[in-house]
Amino acid sequence: MTAQRQRLRLLLIEDSSDDEELLLQELGTSGYDVSHTLVMTREELSRALEAGPWDAIISDYRLPGFTGLEAFSLVQQRGLDIPFLLVSGTIGEDTAVAAMKAGVHDFLLKDRLGRLGPALARELREAVVRAERRKMQEQLLLSDRLAALGMLAAGVAHEINNPLSSLLVHLDLALNPPEERQLHPEEAQVVRSAFECAVHIRDIVRDIKIFARPDSEQFGPTELHRVLDSVLRMAWHQVIHKARLVKDYQGSATVHGSEARLAQIFLNLVINAAQAIPEGQRDQQEIRVVTRPEVPDSIRVEIHDTGPGIPPELHERIFEPFFTTKPVGVGTGLGLSICRRIATEMGGHIGLKSQPGQGSLFWVLLRSAQGSS
Ligand SMILES: Nc1ncnc2c1ncn2[C@@H]1O[C@H](COP(=O)(O)OP(=O)(O)OP(=O)(O)O)[C@@H](O)[C@H]1O
Ligand SMILES: [Mg+2]
Repeated sequence: MTAQRQRLRLLLIEDSSDDEELLLQELGTSGYDVSHTLVMTREELSRALEAGPWDAIISDYRLPGFTGLEAFSLVQQRGLDIPFLLVSGTIGEDTAVAAMKAGVHDFLLKDRLGRLGPALARELREAVVRAERRKMQEQLLLSDRLAALGMLAAGVAHEINNPLSSLLVHLDLALNPPEERQLHPEEAQVVRSAFECAVHIRDIVRDIKIFARPDSEQFGPTELHRVLDSVLRMAWHQVIHKARLVKDYQGSATVHGSEARLAQIFLNLVINAAQAIPEGQRDQQEIRVVTRPEVPDSIRVEIHDTGPGIPPELHERIFEPFFTTKPVGVGTGLGLSICRRIATEMGGHIGLKSQPGQGSLFWVLLRSAQGSS
């Protein structure tokens, strides 16, 4: 049985065609399917790095006009993290140590190239691990920043709330004056509209505050439908140009949890649903939010969407932290892993039913707190 040959886009810095052939032969024997570009000078190297991408760079130690170490520092200066192996005919121990200290990944002797295949395989694996780690760090930074932004929004909401409370009190007074100073009906209408606008602002401010409460918040009886309404208002602009929004709530529902944490779960599920639905077919698309009591003592919430659905082999993976199919800047892949953690903390469960082409249904089963409030 022949194993699949691994494709390798190789940048070779080398001035001897004999050595070029030797290296390519060795890589071929080690199972690589190499496509390579040969460069000899600093300028050629610069141009080749620009043209990239490269899976690996192999450089001769001594080159006309510059050295392998200088080539390596050129790669580093560009912030590129590509496995870099130095090859040399002869080498003093000092030179080898200096090269490794500079960060060159490995140093090989031309008469012992048998080590080339395994050394390259190791470096390629490690480069993948480094790239994953970098991606994870970037995403963590991003989610940190989002949390900070949430705190900022909560602060602003709090600042708005104080003058808003006075405004509501004064408008209420104006609407209900003493008997002898009754408003003219037209004036009363104007004040009533102002009062309604102020109430609307109060709801928006309340929604913002729900999403930025401290983590230490205690769990207790929480009005589920109030949280869902708040989430749907927050997600309104993302949803409304993509799909119809249908609410199908049954009965009243008090669940064990906290407003902020429940809101986090449902906001992510609703945004995921909206992001899954393609643009431009609003009339045929729907996001449906369903709540049902479930025996014994549970409430089931379902978020249905008419998006492309999810293949069965991904049903578990999508809950893994950092698993995302969205471009950088759109998704961090943290949403569902956070949803599952919060649902479990509240004594609940989360899961999905989905098939490609048949939309998705994410369900959350929560403990009912009916009677304990
Ligand atoms: N309703 C859905 N329809 C289709 N695919 C979905 C749906 N919800 C989630 N997914 C898939 O699951 C992946 C993981 O979702 P998750 O919410 O964890 O992360 P994300 O949405 O990609 O990023 P983030 O939530 O951090 O912004 C998504 O990238 C997407 O591929
Ligand atoms: Mg998400």
